[in-house]
Amino acid sequence: MSASTITPDIGEQAHEEGVVKLYPGEDGIAVLRLGAPTEKMLTLTEERMLSLEGAIKDLRSDRDLRGVIVTGPGPGMFAAGADIKMFTKIESAGQAQTGATHGRTLFGMFEELAIPVVGAIEGPCLGGGLELALCFDTRVASDHKSTKIGLPEVKLGIIPGFGGTQRLSRLLGLPKALDLILMGKDLNAVRALRTGVVDRVVAPERLLDAARQEIEKLAAKGHKRRPRKLKGGAFWLSRTPVGRWMVNRTASKQLAKGQARFFPAPRRALELCLDAFRLSPSDGFANEARALGELMVSPVCKALVHLFFLTEKAKGLGKAEQARAVQRASVIGGGAMGAGIAGLMASRGIRVRLSDLDQGALARAKARLQKSLDKRLKRRRMKRHEAVAAQDRLAASTDWGHLATTDLFLEAIVENMGVKNKLFATAIERGLREDAILATNTSSLSVDEMAVAVPNPERLVGIHFFNPPEKMPLVEVIRGSSTSDAAVATACKFATALGKFPVVVKDSPGFLVNRCLGAYMNEAMVLMMGGDEPEHVDKALLNFGMPMGPARLLDQVGWDIAANVGEVMAKAFPQAPPPPTLPAAMVEAGTLGQKSGGGLYDKTGKKPGPGRAVLKRLQTASGEPTPAEEIVARLIYPMANEAYRLLGDGIVESEDDIDLGMVFGTGFAPFTGGLASWARNEGLAKIRDKLALLAEQQAQSGGIRFEPCEELSRRADAS
Ligand code: NAI
Repeated sequence: MSASTITPDIGEQAHEEGVVKLYPGEDGIAVLRLGAPTEKMLTLTEERMLSLEGAIKDLRSDRDLRGVIVTGPGPGMFAAGADIKMFTKIESAGQAQTGATHGRTLFGMFEELAIPVVGAIEGPCLGGGLELALCFDTRVASDHKSTKIGLPEVKLGIIPGFGGTQRLSRLLGLPKALDLILMGKDLNAVRALRTGVVDRVVAPERLLDAARQEIEKLAAKGHKRRPRKLKGGAFWLSRTPVGRWMVNRTASKQLAKGQARFFPAPRRALELCLDAFRLSPSDGFANEARALGELMVSPVCKALVHLFFLTEKAKGLGKAEQARAVQRASVIGGGAMGAGIAGLMASRGIRVRLSDLDQGALARAKARLQKSLDKRLKRRRMKRHEAVAAQDRLAASTDWGHLATTDLFLEAIVENMGVKNKLFATAIERGLREDAILATNTSSLSVDEMAVAVPNPERLVGIHFFNPPEKMPLVEVIRGSSTSDAAVATACKFATALGKFPVVVKDSPGFLVNRCLGAYMNEAMVLMMGGDEPEHVDKALLNFGMPMGPARLLDQVGWDIAANVGEVMAKAFPQAPPPPTLPAAMVEAGTLGQKSGGGLYDKTGKKPGPGRAVLKRLQTASGEPTPAEEIVARLIYPMANEAYRLLGDGIVESEDDIDLGMVFGTGFAPFTGGLASWARNEGLAKIRDKLALLAEQQAQSGGIRFEPCEELSRRADAS
């Protein structure tokens, strides 16, 4: 292997996994490799940090060295940050603070080396990986598509604690550093160069040569690189008290809005970034380590780490042995869902043929994909030839074409059992391969009922996307009673290939998310019909931590869909009280919500809309508004009750599935760790007792709504 590639000529020396190793060069330039070439994922474990310390000591004592290149284990990987498993072993704030101080001091030793240090970065350079790289004189990045540079710590409820808040702020100035740190953003190589996080971008095969050149440049000058000076707006907004005051005010306002206010880490990070300019470096670093310690043992960090592990587990579902990769697919129905799903498939490398009865729908589907590709092109997240290839992978036609090569046949047509049955029958008649997966995106029909009309029903599976499919991260994979493990595994692999988190749910009305959400929405409607104003109900739930209040959500989903779901649920659960009459009345008045130009709110979603007159007509009482705490109990407790009922009935396998599904399917307060985590924290016995009380109070008007389910009661007794 030549010295010009990312894997330098390192001779025959064995490199043990998990440790860093120094490769001295004849030209006086050493290469410090952060891991063995066989390591595909590199995290900063304790063992690696220890060996890094040893390597730095060796560098310090080698008087013949002219410079050092620090690089990852091999192509496509630099360092992905801390080992998140270590988070769960932290027992006290003090322990985390000590760890942070040690890590930051260790990384700082690169700054103190007398020789130039240049980072050769390809692949993820995230969190601790970037905090390490910030201590180098120069950072050269490869423009390989795996390169991702950023500080995503706030996503786990913590702050960059190995010097990142201080060093990145001083390097870039407050506006750019805050943009990266508060949002936990990552950048590709070109954007990292434009932002100033790296100094040079080259093609992958030139990475090490370019790093060597940078060392030669510094060696010729005979000194380490001098700190970059902030200029213009960045200088004024960072280095002057009035500039910092402005930055603080603007950022604080953003962090006080919506769900952001429930996450303490970005607020702490803001304070620390300001400290980088108003305190001495040692005080700034000390504050940072203290903040990391405190946040690391906070409930929000624990909740977010829990969710992180759940997403990793979900991704693992797609790796089961029986899972087959979907390379070619047919999607029938190019409406709101089908168009989005087919476009997503094409942009993720799957050849897809989208068919619809309506030519207009097909043209809209192509345009929808083009719009999303244009956005990515503009943000330089994609190259033009990649966008062209994605559009080429989407064939849109009224003709189904040959089905013999399709791996997955997915329907997203009208919600009608007869029509869907006929569609599957036709697909089989037209030569769909026997081992191709048949999938339905139905949100309310039974997969088992659909399977009756399919000759080999083990290959029929529900793949339930959420709207809009390009954005919503969850996919419910619905297992019917005949669905095979292989079909489930393939559906999970397909979902993860599209960047989604799959959750496997047994066929049952409303599956997991809509069933739980239904209980919540119904109660919101009951409260509004009882005299509570939509704004009042919405505010209580926003203050609880939901991304949107239920009244506004109903407007967004559409009252026609709400009416339809109500009917389906009423049919499935005839013993339950009838659904609220509000959706049917809204449909009759034509106030369907956002899609019709207004529902309970107007088009802007901010002012009362035409549906208020409908609500007024149905409102039975308007006494004192229900207290916010009571609203939360009336909406969230029944939702939790429904979730435990599903668990008791074996529809979902675990509380983890409930957490994952509700956070990624509905945006349920992520800082709680999910619905089941929240319920356990609230106290299952408290929830059960309150539900029983509500049931008693409302026995005549439908106490059954609140009856605590067996599983909840059993777990409450055991808790
Ligand atoms: P839509 O009404 O926007 O689109 C349906 C499309 O299917 C239309 O373009 C129509 O022309 C076409 N179509 C109807 N019958 C057809 C046939 N026999 N052959 C070919 N094309 C046909 O409906 P939407 O909202 O996209 O829903 C589709 C499916 O996805 C339904 O099963 C629905 O329950 C489900 N779903 C909908 C969600 C939503 O929020 N809209 C969310 C999750 C699932």
